[in-house]
Amino acid sequence: MNAEEIRSLEQQYVLHTYVRPPFVLERGEGVRLYDSEGRAYLDFGSGIAVNALGYGDPDVAQAIGQQTQRLMHASNLYHTEPQARLAKMLVERSFADKVYFCNSGTEAVEAALKFARKWAKVNGGSERDEFVAFSGAFHGRTMGSLALTPRPHYQDPFRPLMPGSRFATFNDLASVEAVIGERTCACIVEPVQGEGGIHPATPAFLRGLRDLCDRTGTLLIFDEVQCGLGRTGTLWAHEAYGVTPDIMSLAKPLGGGLPIGATLLTQRVADAIGPGDHGSTFAANPVVCAAAQVVVGKIAERAFLEHVCWCGDYLSKRLTDLQEECEDIVEVRGRGLMWGVEMRREVAPIVQACQEHGLLVLSAGANVLRMVPPLTVEQADMDEAVNIFGEALGVTNH
Ligand SMILES: Cc1ncc(COP(=O)(O)O)c(C=O)c1O
Repeated sequence: MNAEEIRSLEQQYVLHTYVRPPFVLERGEGVRLYDSEGRAYLDFGSGIAVNALGYGDPDVAQAIGQQTQRLMHASNLYHTEPQARLAKMLVERSFADKVYFCNSGTEAVEAALKFARKWAKVNGGSERDEFVAFSGAFHGRTMGSLALTPRPHYQDPFRPLMPGSRFATFNDLASVEAVIGERTCACIVEPVQGEGGIHPATPAFLRGLRDLCDRTGTLLIFDEVQCGLGRTGTLWAHEAYGVTPDIMSLAKPLGGGLPIGATLLTQRVADAIGPGDHGSTFAANPVVCAAAQVVVGKIAERAFLEHVCWCGDYLSKRLTDLQEECEDIVEVRGRGLMWGVEMRREVAPIVQACQEHGLLVLSAGANVLRMVPPLTVEQADMDEAVNIFGEALGVTNH
């Protein structure tokens, strides 16, 4: 099929929930994607912050191939080795004592919310059923996550939403003190907000939130679906802040491109959860768990994370240099390889211009252009990306 035929098939048969550019992607290699006409794109979107190891990592492919031959699916009614091994790897490298597996980011958040509710009930608080979330947050599209994602565009068509959702202002501790109370069972926050425009939490805010949760007996949930697993230069984004949560949601890069989510929890929360409380047919799929072991093993390597930090410093410098030559750029912010460039104008046309010049980038809200390349990028890739971005902005001599 040629691109035109594929587009018309999609238009006829696929529900229209995404607006897509005209090209059809066919294969990927390293940090590049190729369309059906053989055109190459430097990928600074990574399939929305998923492809941390780039395209075609041979070890991930080998793990998938081998596990596919052995066992593709068994369900959670039975023991399987890849799930057990992956859980051990995640626990040994984090604050957590237990892991619950699911299939996506929004499911990892839903599980976190259910576990927090159950924990509060078990610990004597049948009235403790509220959640506190933040302005600018994005936690997913299913009903619980959506209720804690305060954006009218996402929420309004689907009201009524889950009751008991309260909101405070991101990076403003006083605003949390005003809404947290006896009915709160958990606060949920992204240590670095992604979809909301790449906003890192301030250290004082995240540490203050931990103290506040401790003082009020509230659980603290970190949603690291986007900022976790090496994206910000440490294995977990919260490591840079010196605070740990009670529960953490993960997804995106974990499966090396295959769908998986995970909810990590401390023993005191895990103690409240028992058989039948939650579950999923496909969760902890052996093939995905085999791929994820390779991903976690590679990303957690010190040299790998040092590479992310070095690249992050370099990319941020190139972007701030560009800012000096382009007055349309308001701010460059981020951590590691998670960068947002806030513009004085809408970024959709800039994203499109970059595509036309062979660079894939994302937006994060109307005015923020987001760069989340594979964590395996090299200096030359970053130079090329910033040069194309500069051209798309009409900046010369950068
Ligand atoms: C912080 C955060 N949480 C949750 C989600 C939802 O993940 P998924 O799209 O896999 O359901 C996202 C997706 O962008 C995210 O960035």
